[in-house]
Amino acid sequence: MTGLNNNGALDEISFKADLTLQRLRPRLEEHWRRTSMDEADRRSFDNRLAEHWPLLFKLLYRLYGDRYDFFYHIERVLLTAAGAWADRSDRLRETDLHRVNDPSWFLSEGVVGGAIYVDLFSENLGRLREQVPYFKSLGLTYLHLMPLFAVRPGDNDGGYAISNYRSVDPRLGTIDDLRLLAEELHANGISLVLDFVFNHTADDHEWAQLAQAGSREHQEFYYLFPDRTEPDRYEQSLREVFPTVRRGNFTWHDGMQQWVWTTFNNFQWDLNYSNPAVFRAMLEEMFFIANTGVDILRLDAVAFIWKRLGTNCENQPEAHMLIQAFNRLARIATPGLLFKSEAIVHPDEVVRYISPKECQISYNPTLMALLWESLATRRVRLLRQTLSHRHKLPEQTSWVNYLRCHDDIGWTFDDADAAAIGVNAYDHRRFLNDFYTGQFPGSFARGVPFQENPQTGDMRISGTMASLAGLEQAIDEDDEEKKELALKRMLLLHGVTLSIGGIPLLYLGEEWGMLNDYEFANDPAKAGDTRWIHRPKMQWEFLDELDDHIASGNGSIRTRIFTTMQRMIKLRKESPALSGQAMDLIGTSNDHVLGYVRRFEGHRLVVLANFSEEEQVIDGNKLRTAAIGRFFQDEISGATYPTSDPMRLGAYQILWLKSV
Ligand code: GLC
Ligand code: GLC
Repeated sequence: MTGLNNNGALDEISFKADLTLQRLRPRLEEHWRRTSMDEADRRSFDNRLAEHWPLLFKLLYRLYGDRYDFFYHIERVLLTAAGAWADRSDRLRETDLHRVNDPSWFLSEGVVGGAIYVDLFSENLGRLREQVPYFKSLGLTYLHLMPLFAVRPGDNDGGYAISNYRSVDPRLGTIDDLRLLAEELHANGISLVLDFVFNHTADDHEWAQLAQAGSREHQEFYYLFPDRTEPDRYEQSLREVFPTVRRGNFTWHDGMQQWVWTTFNNFQWDLNYSNPAVFRAMLEEMFFIANTGVDILRLDAVAFIWKRLGTNCENQPEAHMLIQAFNRLARIATPGLLFKSEAIVHPDEVVRYISPKECQISYNPTLMALLWESLATRRVRLLRQTLSHRHKLPEQTSWVNYLRCHDDIGWTFDDADAAAIGVNAYDHRRFLNDFYTGQFPGSFARGVPFQENPQTGDMRISGTMASLAGLEQAIDEDDEEKKELALKRMLLLHGVTLSIGGIPLLYLGEEWGMLNDYEFANDPAKAGDTRWIHRPKMQWEFLDELDDHIASGNGSIRTRIFTTMQRMIKLRKESPALSGQAMDLIGTSNDHVLGYVRRFEGHRLVVLANFSEEEQVIDGNKLRTAAIGRFFQDEISGATYPTSDPMRLGAYQILWLKSV
């Protein structure tokens, strides 16, 4: 019976969707008459609209159907989409069509990403354009620029407190510079990735200013409360993301005499998506950003965009509906555009954002955390346990595998995965925090705490890849052996993210083994946020060292990291087996060695990775069956291995084995 009801409800909603579109058609026709678009482009929009409208309507109806002004908003949404398609450059429309015909383009082994801050890397967008050859020399085909839009004065959370989505921070350049850069990147086969910071605006965004000036319409863009009654009720089940900024999730605003919902910093005001005007307004901003020439939008802080009393207000069903609605609209108006999810939450929740209908790609925070976990413990049990049931993703989607980013490291593995191998998650997180802040005896790491919460004992970790992997300590102690080990640890981790399945993403600076930068503490706008420790300025003189071939001491470590990374990236791009996502673990019968096979259209690559500084031996027969072959060649070192012998892996060695 329920089936019947559901069908009935479905028919009902399809009927409503059809009728609504019929009613809106004349408005669309009117709109087309005012734009000078050729017939073919118009038709392609109409086709996509017909295909995606039913689902879009259903989502918006579920989110906003009971609002008195629903029909007004839906009309505006449709016209906004038409306007966005009309505003797209010919080049973008051409890319759209290619991607509609080749929807797997981002699953290729050829895709390799990098992320940078424009100011720290090259001062501004103009100079950045001159650095395209650098990206190419590394082999990058995907470039994430950290937020570069106009921000509030003073602390701006590294660009995440945006006061205007339509203008570039004047210190970095202009929207035209951004467009030019996008063209230059495109001409060089590099996709542009920008953030869509849609959970909050800065407190000086126009909407927030109008709200402060008393505009009721704009006050409804945010969550404002006249007293503590509601905030206190919400607070009972909320987490604190930035507990050192202030306790709780609300900030008192003297001018308005209201509490403002601020999940992150006090000056980042959460947008109220239960108001359809907010959805529509942000849709316009999204299309504007997309049309500057963006290939992939990184959806910032996706988990937080819907609030529900009595919950932690993260990962609510409506958050998914909202992203799906944005996705449908992108399919209609900017069909080449992909979404990347930034959900740094429990692994069960991370994966719920990943689908061709929602975010096609996603950060893989669990793999990131567990690679560091394996490095600390020298064991891969938790990593293997987790990968065994969490790596697989839906068709036409991909992980983005990374080791460091501009944010902290949180130990977001699943407690049950830990329990399954006999590990107490609470104690283990404490151990990892001790280890990565260098407190644990014998630790090689030089991380610092981020957002330590004295009440819960929670903290996350800041630090550059090299400092966390032991290079800083080794250099301070001037210990050659330790330097070697640190170098090997870094290459081991990169060897995994480059091969395990998904898009590898370097946080630039990693390719030089850049160390923690303690200078941030002298800048009042940064001092309160230890994440600045791992946001160092690019040092272009490193490139001269590389050219000189005479680098010595630490310079030689840097050039070795750089040239090895360059070579590994090249190898990845020449290995069709590394396309896509499919990965099968190999039982290595050795807790220090992770093993997996990658297969694609008859190509195979076996990866063995030793997470300890001791030599490890595994039975060659394991490979013979897993990877079908008697002789293997390691792509990285060139050495060959017969499977009749035991396989020996040196300290932190990683092998990419092809059968020969
Ligand atoms: C995202 C960003 C982080 C920022 C936060 C608030 O998580 O990665 O840097 O602090 O959102 O925008
Ligand atoms: C939390 C949030 C994540 C954000 C990070 C910044 O982990 O879930 O979105 O990037 O804090 O530290």
